[in-house]
Amino acid sequence: MKELIQRLVETWGPSGYEDQVRELIRAEVADAVDEWRVDALGNLITVKKPTRQGNGKRVMLAAHMDEIGIMATHVDEKGFVRFTNIGGVHPLNLRGARVQFQDGRVGVIGREEKAEGEPTLAQMYIDVGATSREDCPIKVGDPAVFLRDFSDLGKRLVAKAFDDRIGCAILIEVMKRLQETPHEVIGVFTVQEEVGLRGAMTSAFGVKPELALAIDVTMTGDTPEARKRPMQLGKGPAIKVKDRGMLSHPKVKELLVETAERLEIPHQLEVLEAGTTDAMSIQVSREGVPTGCVSIPTRYLHTPSEMVDYDDVLNTVRLIIGFLSGPIDLGQ
Ligand code: CO
Ligand code: ZN
Repeated sequence: MKELIQRLVETWGPSGYEDQVRELIRAEVADAVDEWRVDALGNLITVKKPTRQGNGKRVMLAAHMDEIGIMATHVDEKGFVRFTNIGGVHPLNLRGARVQFQDGRVGVIGREEKAEGEPTLAQMYIDVGATSREDCPIKVGDPAVFLRDFSDLGKRLVAKAFDDRIGCAILIEVMKRLQETPHEVIGVFTVQEEVGLRGAMTSAFGVKPELALAIDVTMTGDTPEARKRPMQLGKGPAIKVKDRGMLSHPKVKELLVETAERLEIPHQLEVLEAGTTDAMSIQVSREGVPTGCVSIPTRYLHTPSEMVDYDDVLNTVRLIIGFLSGPIDLGQ
């Protein structure tokens, strides 16, 4: 799976510009699913029909294709580019970082030398090697993402955009490897999560799920002087109980825990005080959808070097396949 993961994280795709990621994923899953389509916003919706009779549900799985990035807002007379954020970009992570525009052009982020205090985006600029506004190839409205290679440290992997290409990799594996299921499984690769869960909102309306799971990353509390957080790298998929935007359906959470226990998959519970996922907008779509979320613990989230544990990734695939292989009784 590492080769697929590497291709996914190294593909260019900030929110609103997911085309290259979508094409890669479509080519990967098309043969493994019964149907696929792309909706008006650009969500890739893939469908696997039930393989056997009996109490199946329409289950939506969501992983977002987009990554955080920046967008040019102004080019000065010397050719330096000012920019705004696409999604959660923290000024502290930016000085010296490289960004890549859609045509492959690279720029380096600098900070005004005389700026003081906490860094802000307004003090930052991108140097693309231009000498004037006229010879600057970057125009207002051009988007870019962080440029950083994938590194395989063995058990741990480092890359930009594990948020949420690691979720996409897991969802691809689930759609490929799920053999036996009573459910209609709809794998949705969503757009524009990082700017407000927008792709999940429209795709959930169209898919009308009876049950849903998001697959996304979560923060950990296992680095030096970290805030107290229960999640750790290498302790298995994190089954979400709560984040800032949603409370998981208690029965969905419980069934995920039961599945993990039955299959002896290491797992942990997630309570995240910041951030949320596509699960939030799916849960409140239409008349409401029982929704949960399986998270991959990730260090250095929203920096150009996010870190995950490979065993957590493999165990997340196992957990979701196990969950979908049998009946799902919500007791309603
Ligand atoms: Co994110
Ligand atoms: Zn995410």
